[in-house]
Amino acid sequence: MEEIILKKHYNDKITEREIKNSLISQKSAEEGIVLLKNDGVLPLKHNINIALYGAGARKTVKGGWGSGDVNERKSTSIEEGLKEIGYKITTNKWINEYDIIYNKELKKWKQKCKDFVNENKGQYIMDSIPFISPCGRIITDTDIKKSNTNVAIYVLSRTSGEGADRKNEKGDFKLFDEEIENLKRLVKNYKKVILIINSGGIIDTSFLKEIPEINAIIYMSQAGCRGGNAIANILSGKVTPSGKLSDTWASKYEDYPVCINNDKDVINIKYKEGIFVGYRYFDTFNIIPNFEFGYGLSYTQFSININDISIENEKVLLSIKVKNIGKKYKGKEVVQIYISCSNNEQNKEYQRLVGFKKTKLLKPGEEQEFKYIVDMENMKSYNEKIASWILEKGKYTLRIGNSSRNTETIAYININKTAIIQKVKNICNLKTNLKEYKPNELKREDKLNIPTFNLDIKDKDFVKQNKEEDKNIKLVINKLETKELFNIICGAHNPRSRKIKFYKSVVPGAVGETTSKLKEKYSIENIVFSDGPAGIHIKQKYNDNGKKVYQYCTAMPIGVLLAQTWNEEILKEVGYAVAQEMKEFGISVWLAPGMNIHRDPLCGRNFEYFSEDPFLTGKVAGNIVLGLQNINGISATLKHFACNNKENNRIFSNSIISEKALREIYLRGFEIAIKLSNPRAIMTSYNKINGVATSNSYDLCTEVLRNEWEFNGVVMTDWFSQTIGDACAKEAIKAGNDLIMPGNVKDIEDIEKNYKEGKLDIEDLKKCATNILKVIIESNKYVK
Ligand code: BGC
Repeated sequence: MEEIILKKHYNDKITEREIKNSLISQKSAEEGIVLLKNDGVLPLKHNINIALYGAGARKTVKGGWGSGDVNERKSTSIEEGLKEIGYKITTNKWINEYDIIYNKELKKWKQKCKDFVNENKGQYIMDSIPFISPCGRIITDTDIKKSNTNVAIYVLSRTSGEGADRKNEKGDFKLFDEEIENLKRLVKNYKKVILIINSGGIIDTSFLKEIPEINAIIYMSQAGCRGGNAIANILSGKVTPSGKLSDTWASKYEDYPVCINNDKDVINIKYKEGIFVGYRYFDTFNIIPNFEFGYGLSYTQFSININDISIENEKVLLSIKVKNIGKKYKGKEVVQIYISCSNNEQNKEYQRLVGFKKTKLLKPGEEQEFKYIVDMENMKSYNEKIASWILEKGKYTLRIGNSSRNTETIAYININKTAIIQKVKNICNLKTNLKEYKPNELKREDKLNIPTFNLDIKDKDFVKQNKEEDKNIKLVINKLETKELFNIICGAHNPRSRKIKFYKSVVPGAVGETTSKLKEKYSIENIVFSDGPAGIHIKQKYNDNGKKVYQYCTAMPIGVLLAQTWNEEILKEVGYAVAQEMKEFGISVWLAPGMNIHRDPLCGRNFEYFSEDPFLTGKVAGNIVLGLQNINGISATLKHFACNNKENNRIFSNSIISEKALREIYLRGFEIAIKLSNPRAIMTSYNKINGVATSNSYDLCTEVLRNEWEFNGVVMTDWFSQTIGDACAKEAIKAGNDLIMPGNVKDIEDIEKNYKEGKLDIEDLKKCATNILKVIIESNKYVK
């Protein structure tokens, strides 16, 4: 094995880095957990007896499955977290019996997977058979009596992951009948009942109408390796909850536009809701959710006031004051800024998020003042007819508050003339008819005594910066023989195998690397890629010439929970912690953050992604990347570009979508993250958009990424997408998708054949190789 790992651990002692990073994991979990309901039962008194029930009590789910999983040393369960700070769990019998039921189900599931692999030789097991956590048995009178307490906690757990969507069924999106029955028994028999939701995403909360007596509800999400400690600190009041939802929790699945739209076609997915995704839909069409976007309670209360508003250089400047007006608890508040854009000429959503800031920890009575700039860029809309981003003339309403439905109007802004912000080219043409949703009427408020500002926005000429070519890279690329170009463009595959499942990596468990074939002749190093986003995904242990080597990584909270922190500083810390581990284990490129929009609450991979909102998504991803790339030589990869909004049939699905919705909702987060953090890599997705595979789309890989956003890193394919789907390496190269990952014999053959037939140009190959070489040279193999 090559010696690229910085520090090999030949014993399994806990390292200082593990301890430090697991505390960052815990801190971010504590900031992102959302308190949904509290009638005053929380926080709990210390050292009391607790009757703990439910699937996640001991088998707490720390994250999702698939490439987004992490092989950490250990994760604390809720049971352990509570015990560690002095609570006594008095329902061991129920929990022990749950273990037996769980293990039986797990065994059955493993057998099913084995049978599947045997029957479908070579097929990707990730086209998955999901494991559904059982709910456990009905709680009996004896359980209740023996628990010797009036406080019960019920933990509802759900798993989800890559390759399969969740289902709107009992045991998945909906509750098992037994779970509802158990909750009913608890509210009848205990004075204080707390429900903890330990799932990667939204669940059906319509049962709350049936059981309104539940005293408190916490959305724990999946909180990484210290989740049990984080939730215990929140329950005990050591930490005041400050997370806010990054999605709309409807009162039932049928309320989501994606469900209304569903025409059961698993190939052609029509995005009929257009721009009306998440709260943009609920607010515009007046549908009341159970818990709105941006919502989350605290143990204390805050006042949010505007000190001053002014306009300078086409920007709105706000001076904001937040005060903890509670008497007992410290806490943090998230100030959220929303805008209703003018809808003179085009359909618009009722409102959109254009800014947010989380305060520091405020003591009772303490206040914090800060300035916030709302950039016009976030008020822009796309006009397909003139292929331009515009700021439409008319009245804009600015609101501020602590959730999307708890805001106050603070200003009106009048734009007197429609301005063109950026002229672009039409992309990803729709080839079929798509009838999009249109609201009947769009109300805009008109209140008295609200300050009004006039804003003159000038048309802008976008001038692309001509980046200077790196002469040294050019020299090296010009020296490479054509065959060597093929090698650098395809990742390092296992030459002994033609089967797709073999990829090569010098770091056991990492999912791929660039070629090592150019090392001897040109000293071009191979760099290693590892999955994320909840940390790094490599093997926990391996054998090195008879000696065991340990690679313990930190399981961070899942993407949803990180987004729910709304805390840009913590996100940077998480990114930095991950980068330290990459450096330690010899990894250069992180295949994360994942940042697809939560179009459908049932998407199996929503747990890895952040939100239904592109602004929040872009900011969260961008801050993680800023933290990560702060360590020299470590690169992030934004993925999956774009519209990977479902997992069932993801390789063959075709997202049929208008250019406006594509740009305003599904690409916008990527744009924000790229402009904020300059990531060195992007991964395209498996799906098609309007009939063209994203990896083979010149519009996406070159026109949008490079020409409009001036992205100057490397674009890579998702794994095997050029081999198992309808896409091919030749088209990827022509489109500007530089790196074919993980690379295999078939990809090289495709490139070679097309080159020989004159269908690929040497300059196309060199362009891709140049982008790849740049990331290699900027990696930790060269830069210290
Ligand atoms: C996933 C990617 C992942 C890659 C490598 C694919 O199946 O979609 O997100 O990075 O595998 O594991």
